[in-house]
Amino acid sequence: MSTDFAVAEYALVQEGEKEMSFLLKKISCDVLVCGSGAAGLRAGIEAFERGTNVLIIGQSRFGDAHTRLAAGGINAALGVVTQKDNWLVHAADTFEEGGKIGVPQMVEILARNANDAVIELANFGVKFARNERGQIKQRIYGAQTYPRTCYVGDYTGRAILQALVRKAKKLGVKQIDNAYITHLFKSGGKVLGCFAVDFKKGEFLVLQAKSVVLAMGGYSRVYKNSSSRPFENMGYGSYLALQNGLKLQDMEMVQFHPTGMTWPESAVGKLVTEAVRSEGGTLLNASGERLMKKYSPKMLELSARDVVARAIFTEIVEGRGTKNRGVFLDLTRVPKEKILERLPDTFKQFERYQKIDISREKMEVSPTSHYSMGGIAVNPSDCSAGLSGLFACGEATGGLHGANRLGGNSLAETLVFGKIAGVNASDFAKQNKMLEIGEIEINSARKEIESFFNRGFTAPQTLRTQLQEIMWECAGVIKDGEKLREGLEKLQELKENIPKMNVKEGLKKNSELVIALDTTSLVLVAQAVLESALLRKESRGAHYRTDFPKTLGSWQANIFAELKGGKLKLSKKMILRGSKEFERAVHAHYDRKFELWE
Ligand code: FUM
Repeated sequence: MSTDFAVAEYALVQEGEKEMSFLLKKISCDVLVCGSGAAGLRAGIEAFERGTNVLIIGQSRFGDAHTRLAAGGINAALGVVTQKDNWLVHAADTFEEGGKIGVPQMVEILARNANDAVIELANFGVKFARNERGQIKQRIYGAQTYPRTCYVGDYTGRAILQALVRKAKKLGVKQIDNAYITHLFKSGGKVLGCFAVDFKKGEFLVLQAKSVVLAMGGYSRVYKNSSSRPFENMGYGSYLALQNGLKLQDMEMVQFHPTGMTWPESAVGKLVTEAVRSEGGTLLNASGERLMKKYSPKMLELSARDVVARAIFTEIVEGRGTKNRGVFLDLTRVPKEKILERLPDTFKQFERYQKIDISREKMEVSPTSHYSMGGIAVNPSDCSAGLSGLFACGEATGGLHGANRLGGNSLAETLVFGKIAGVNASDFAKQNKMLEIGEIEINSARKEIESFFNRGFTAPQTLRTQLQEIMWECAGVIKDGEKLREGLEKLQELKENIPKMNVKEGLKKNSELVIALDTTSLVLVAQAVLESALLRKESRGAHYRTDFPKTLGSWQANIFAELKGGKLKLSKKMILRGSKEFERAVHAHYDRKFELWE
């Protein structure tokens, strides 16, 4: 395998066209990884170590991807607190709490490989909290049978991302940051590479590759209140998948994290980690009642996220919330030293935004959109995504978490499936030749971007905000058919304004163009969320409909969405059974007893 990149620069302007002075740079590599969060980095590291040259392209600054915000931990059944834990219990918890529609094979792969992933991270230099015997400490997270969440304070994602970045840099993996993938090139069912805008340098990029990994995160920013940063998780992976004839699955399954900040305006939706509840935080309504006693008397604050989110939401809409439309999260009984040791970032977060000391004053919280369980449908065993040479991993994909994700499983997913995607993208690149991308295709991808310039009068930001408000209003924590249909109607009106979005000409640091691209993708993704939610006439996990409150056996199924003739088509498929071992573990799970863990 060659180790150098082929780079060519040329201006691609045809005769008679209005000349725009953007440089178009062509780069070739064996494996192109789109996304520089934990999943993308893990895929890139693996592919590089297997002897293929790799280019990682990310939207954020290298080392500043969204993984940074994952707070409380990563799940692995290491059995440190109790040897009763093992991969089978982990798999059963994941499947059961995912509303029994997670893809059994994916669940099994995750649970079987999570331990190795955590040990590998420790070898990469992640400084997990350790007990006096030097073993990795594990905290209990919601709806899990045993404590299995390994952590670094409440900044586990940041610690993991830093270790992966160090590793990638040490290996010499090439990367481009602040770039936006706008187009996949393909021919005869094979992916050829991507088109991107390099917003740092103000250039177009044609990225030619033998194989491509999509690790571009989720779509939780389709909602107004979100724990994601305002410039991430805009659904571009899902959008690209739909545009290229791939299938998405379970798009209606969006996780609302129970605890986001409620004020000030600049912090609304910011994650207040589940680790707060794991370390003893209790939820109180405005009258000081411990509200979870009513909704989940056994598991209380550590019930499944969808249960806790609905409980808080119900208290607020029924008038038992605080003046900032939240409920209290009380940590004042926990000693300050413990808070500072285990939740240092949360302590600083409230000091910074609200000027309060959380060891003395209660926090106020309400649900915030947090994670996309839906996403690109992949083959679990190799992460292939429906085009030859195309792979996907991490939050960009659907299937693993079903209707509800367990806290701590997303970081595990990024590592386990990132590695699988890296192995297979690398093998594919070794076995296949580089194919040329046609000039016509390149030109059309470029024109797609330039067509945004100076064409209308609507600010992209206005449309994006409207879209996020529609989704929050019509497809939020609690849904019903009428609201979902209203959401679709409003979306249709908004869609008509998309061609009117006006963007000033230019590529370098053009945030208006970024927002226009986001909005274009979010509109289609929002439609997939609304239509899938309307089709699923039941309640399951994060998908709760007041007009269909029961969970139905006939809906133990996944919903797939794809674009056919420009129209979104949905289909339903009953879930497959897992291996015998897996099925036995899931069955045994029904008899488990919840114990209280310190
Ligand atoms: O609350 C949290 O710490 C989030 C963790 C996760 O979503 O995995």
